Parts: sequence; structure tokens; C-alpha cells
Amino acid sequence: MSVEKQSSEEIRASGMKDDALVEEHVRLHQIKHEPTKGFLQAPLIFVFVFGCLIFLCSIQLAHTTNDFKLHPPQEADTETPEQKEANRWAKKLSAGKKVFLANCSSCHKPNGVGEPGVYPPLAGSDWVSTDPALITNIILKGLKGEIKVNGETYGTTGIVMNPIAISDRQIANVVTYVRQTWGNEADPIEIFEDDVASVREDYSDKQDQWVFEQLKEIYPEALFGD
Ligand code: HEC
Repeated sequence: MSVEKQSSEEIRASGMKDDALVEEHVRLHQIKHEPTKGFLQAPLIFVFVFGCLIFLCSIQLAHTTNDFKLHPPQEADTETPEQKEANRWAKKLSAGKKVFLANCSSCHKPNGVGEPGVYPPLAGSDWVSTDPALITNIILKGLKGEIKVNGETYGTTGIVMNPIAISDRQIANVVTYVRQTWGNEADPIEIFEDDVASVREDYSDKQDQWVFEQLKEIYPEALFGD
């Protein structure tokens, strides 16, 4: 066994003299550990590889999370007022179309032609293109009894239109849409939420559906398709 591996007790017990001990220590100091092969290179490669990995992941993360920003970047405001207005109008019409398809088209049909003798048409109907308060009122309260639309008689089979329970905004959108679609070109072009709200308020006491005579009294100047 070399001196290296002996404990101090063993060395003392072996009766080694102080001088010899000092000498032995000097010798021990000079002994160098043999370098472990590949010891240093391996961790360096790992550090490098992990470093690259973290770097690449951060780039990827930054890309997919919009540079770590909470909100998406604001689009540069390059639209002209005309383009903005055109966009707003297109949105309003498409919102109106949605309301129509969800609440009216089952009876009046998606193309607004209705069903002969049962559901009157909205395409080409004077009821639609006259004072917008008329169609607003029909949506709010419904309509029953005999009427004439585009020269044809409806309402003789007992089928009525019940009030359509949708918001003022939805009514404004659908009225605007119906009045400007399928060849309808009513004036004023656009109907607003406030217009609907005031009609709703004016006739808040009215309980059952409208009949032709009542509407003719309220809107005497309106044409009634004959
Ligand atoms: C359940 C079927 C039904 C639904 C849904 C319905 N209507 Fe009607 N609508 C009728 C009937 C039936 C009449 C005719 C009532 C009568 O003969 O008095 C009518 C009449 C009308 C009239 C007057 C006549 C005309 O053709 O111009 C308008 C305007 C109208 N509806 C618009 C609408 C709009 C807008 C909606 C959706 C928001 C709607 N209706 C939803 C059945 C319906």
C-alpha cells in the first residue's frame, strides 16, 4: 500500500520519523492526479448544445407570442374615411342579413319572395320601401288580417305574423338590409337603433298584432301595393 492511501494513524503507527514525514508530504505534493480522459470536453459540449437550444427556443417563442406583447399590434391606420364608411356599411348589411336569415327567412324565404298566398314577399313590396317606421312596427308587434302586397292578397288563411323578439339594433340592421336588397332601393337608406327605439316607445301600449286599417291610419301616405 502506498503512503498516499495510509491514514495518519497508520503512518504514525508505522513509526515514521518527522523528517521522513515532511519529506513524504513534499513528495505527495508533487504527485499530480492523472487527468481524466474527456472529462473537460464533455460538459463544454453540453453547455454549448443547451445554450443553442435555449437560444433557438426563445426565438421561436418570441415569434409565436408576438414578441412577448400582450396585445396584437395595431394595424396602421391607413384607411381613408371613405373606406371606413364603406366597411361600416358592408358590416351593417351583413349583420342585417344574418338577422334576416335567423328570424324572417323561414317564412319570407332567403330571397325575400315569400310563399304564394301564405307569406307575402318583401322583395318589391311597397310595405318595405315606404316609411321605415311601418316595417319596424310590423316587426315589433306583428301583423294579421287581409293585406295586399304586390297586387296579391294575403292573410286570408288565418296565418299571421307574430312579433319578432329581437333588439333595437337587430331591427335597425334587418330593416336596413331588407330595404336595400333584392332590388329594393328605399329612402332613407339607413335605419338606426334610435329610430327603432322611438317607434318601440311610441307604441309600447299596443298589445296585439297590427291590422291593415290601423296601419293605414298611422301611415296614410304609405302605398299598400295596389
Ligand atoms: C312565422 C312567419 C313569419 C316570420 C318569421 C316573419 N314574418 Fe313577416 N309576415 C308573415 C305573414 C304571414 C305576413 C302577412 C300577415 C297578414 O297577412 O296580415 C307578414 C308580413 C310582413 C310584412 C308586410 C307585408 C310585406 O310582405 O311587405 C313585412 C314588411 C314583414 N312581414 C317583414 C318581416 C321581417 C322583416 C321579419 C323578420 C324580422 C318577418 N317578417 C318575419 C310571416 C312571417
